[in-house]
Amino acid sequence: NVVKRSYHEKVIDHYENPRNVGNMPKGDIDVGTGLVGAPACGDVMKLQIRVDEHGVISDVKFKTFGCGSAIASSSYMTERVKGMTLEQAGQVKNTEIAKELCLPPVKLHCSLLAEDAIKSAIKDYQVKREKRLSMASAAG
Ligand code: FES
Ligand code: FES
Repeated sequence: NVVKRSYHEKVIDHYENPRNVGNMPKGDIDVGTGLVGAPACGDVMKLQIRVDEHGVISDVKFKTFGCGSAIASSSYMTERVKGMTLEQAGQVKNTEIAKELCLPPVKLHCSLLAEDAIKSAIKDYQVKREKRLSMASAAG
């Protein structure tokens, strides 16, 4: 099987048993969503984080329409950032994912998608939170 020969077994594992696939419940105000695409191939990744009152990521979900490496990278990312602060999660580099999953150079952009997705989810959460806080202070 060509796929099994060209992909590392950790990629296959995350691809066949992806962790944390799905969507966060709609309307949950403690959720940040990152939606990013890879211009090189058109693959798309959505990553959502739920942040608790201590600023720690308590839950993560993803949906990726893309290649095996992109799916594996997002699955790995969800496991990696669960329990982290936003600051820690924002520092997880694609090179770490690529190394962990043994991605070849042509698949580096797949792991970059996961880095972009978590950064964009964090940003989305922070923007929403600031808006909420400024509305609350305007009302109070
Ligand atoms: Fe087709 Fe990534 S290039 S799935
Ligand atoms: Fe484009 Fe993997 S080939 S994300």
